[in-house]
Amino acid sequence: MFPDRVLSGMRPTGALHLGHYHGALKNWVRLQHEVECLFMVADWHALTTAYDDPSIIGRSTWDMVIDWLAAGIDPDKATIFIQSRVPAHAELTLLMGMNTPLSWLERVPTYKDQIEKLAHKDLGTYGFLGYPLMQAADILIYRANQVPVGEDQVSHIELTREIGRRFNNMYGREPGHEEKVAAAIKKMGKAGKQYQELRTRYQQNGDAEALEAARLVLADCANIGREDRERLAGHLEGRGKMILSEPQPLLTEASRLPGLDGAKMSKSYGNTIALRETPENVTKKVRAMPTDPARVRRTDPGNPEKCPVWMFHKVYSDASTRDWVVQGCTTAAIGCLDCKQPVIEGVLAEQKPMFERAQPYLEDLALVRRIVADGCERARARADETMHEVRTAMGLVY
Ligand code: TRP
Ligand code: SF4
Repeated sequence: MFPDRVLSGMRPTGALHLGHYHGALKNWVRLQHEVECLFMVADWHALTTAYDDPSIIGRSTWDMVIDWLAAGIDPDKATIFIQSRVPAHAELTLLMGMNTPLSWLERVPTYKDQIEKLAHKDLGTYGFLGYPLMQAADILIYRANQVPVGEDQVSHIELTREIGRRFNNMYGREPGHEEKVAAAIKKMGKAGKQYQELRTRYQQNGDAEALEAARLVLADCANIGREDRERLAGHLEGRGKMILSEPQPLLTEASRLPGLDGAKMSKSYGNTIALRETPENVTKKVRAMPTDPARVRRTDPGNPEKCPVWMFHKVYSDASTRDWVVQGCTTAAIGCLDCKQPVIEGVLAEQKPMFERAQPYLEDLALVRRIVADGCERARARADETMHEVRTAMGLVY
């Protein structure tokens, strides 16, 4: 019912690498041309695990924003902001905490996983348990309905939807609701009649097409404002007013680009190429990549399927280069260093425009700060709209 809006975020915990680019950023860059997008530096999220060493957050924040800009996020298209500069995120987290069952948070699969995985840290904190709730607030405060995330975050988006729905059901029943609905339908004129007929069809026969059609009628009707539109959207499904969105995950395919050793690219495995890694380092790192262990000598034939370099070719090389690799590797006609050269060139070619886009920001950090300040202002304005309705619904405007 709300206009399409995308929100996503990343924690500022170090330089971004090409795995982030192929796994998430490339997708963000595409989305910014299609719908309104908000991209958030999740600094409070970083604190949920790095609370004992927060120095990394400040250091990483500006670097990460420059990496986003380098990757092609366009500040004229997308809103880039920092979570902690929009304090209403904290207010919504607190308010939603009032009616979120503890069991919902304890059951989030990442909760126990992460506590086990990060056993060297004490994550038995209130903040860590509550972090998926904070993520729900990040999304719901903008009434975003699409959230690009990886597989590991899908359960958080499902939780967000549950929390949004629970909120709508509990607080969407304003005093005088029936009268307000009737008045809004009257305001719609002819379209109001259509709306009612479609609603009846949906309510009596569960006709999903009628529900869709009624939503379209609502969206197209220029006679009513946003509040009435939300009220009638809730009324369609026999609920109160729809105050918060009930968002869907936009599942991003897992990154096709593995780490240098063939495992998932991750800082903790030490197998990354930074987004803005120097050409010298790229060359060195790719040259040092492990290859098919069967190729001990230059004259031993190899099997690309057993070689991480081949996975890079799949991302960076065209069909004729890939044919050359398969041919040359399996017959020992080429050496591994020969084989790696086109990969090096492919990575460098991908990075070149990124370096170019990053340059003005590296020379003048004030430019980055201004982009983020503008973004924060825009984000605050959007968040305030929602918060006004949330406070009203929760009885706090008196
Ligand atoms: N929790 C996400 C992560 O760890 C980051 C994040 C915070 C996020 N808030 C968000 C992602 C809202 C999507 C939407 O990667
Ligand atoms: Fe890997 Fe290429 Fe060497 Fe074959 S020739 S083992 S694909 S690096």
